[in-house]
Amino acid sequence: MDLGLKDKVAIVSGGNKGLGAACAVSLANEGAKVFLTARNEDDLKNVASEISAESSVEVGTLALDITEDGAGDKIVTAALEKFGRIDIVVNGAGAARGGSFLTVEDQVYRDAFELKFLGAVRLCRAAIPHMQAQKYGRIVNIIGMFGREPAKQALPASAVNAAFMTINKGLSQEYGGDGIFVNAVDPGPTRSERILRLFADMAEANGTTPEELENGFRQQIPIGRLGEMEEVARIVTFLASDAAGNLNGTVIPVDGGMVKGIF
Ligand SMILES: NC(=O)c1ccc[n+]([C@@H]2O[C@H](COP(=O)([O-])OP(=O)(O)OC[C@H]3O[C@@H](n4cnc5c(N)ncnc54)[C@H](OP(=O)(O)O)[C@@H]3O)[C@@H](O)[C@H]2O)c1
Repeated sequence: MDLGLKDKVAIVSGGNKGLGAACAVSLANEGAKVFLTARNEDDLKNVASEISAESSVEVGTLALDITEDGAGDKIVTAALEKFGRIDIVVNGAGAARGGSFLTVEDQVYRDAFELKFLGAVRLCRAAIPHMQAQKYGRIVNIIGMFGREPAKQALPASAVNAAFMTINKGLSQEYGGDGIFVNAVDPGPTRSERILRLFADMAEANGTTPEELENGFRQQIPIGRLGEMEEVARIVTFLASDAAGNLNGTVIPVDGGMVKGIF
């Protein structure tokens, strides 16, 4: 299936590692020009070189902390300078520490919201006016299944994800009429640096080892394994494309069937 992504311009936050980088590679493999942003410049350059070598599409990068004031505007300005338009935004930046509720301090919640929730809000607020002007845009949010089914040792991430789902739905309602479609993926546990750190936090809080914790997760996943980043990236790429035609305001679980609820 031709996804029609050739020469589309995609901003990917969190694009220098993990799920964001996997999405950038996947979008570039479909011919999209990608603009990557995250803090670590070396990691950004590494992913950019990998993409240029594999797919020979143009890549732009901007190293910045998305929690800074004005970060969304800076990213959008730099992407427009590089490519002249923005068709797609993938919100992939995010991370939240876990731990037992009684020991997790306010700052952990603040940091989690500041990065993942407000980072996405800022980037969308800056990109949407350009998408409105061209009557076309695709926003894909990488949220996470803990938003639907809170994990007791990862409540900051669970709370952020639930709030993010509200924004996902709200933006789809507000801007669908402008040709801007907003959708999300809800990954289950997917092998990345971040999930391994989160497992370590949760294991400490549970008095167990990260390996035992991972085994425990596996047993809860009907397909019996963690997800792979490329599996999330393929769904994000589909949602960023016109092949996703009539999808707007959805959150697609990519979790091997781990979420049990029917909604
Ligand atoms: N992996 C999973 O199992 C899983 C499951 C459900 C949901 N998710 C969600 O998917 C998203 C990506 O997770 P991941 O597993 O791929 O994590 P990751 O490998 O740690 O990637 C996180 C990304 O966010 C960037 N980032 C962190 N702090 C930043 C800041 N202050 N400013 C700008 N960028 C920042 C990181 O780059 P720098 O550090 O260089 O800034 C990195 O690119 C997260 O929102 C996570 O909650 C992941």
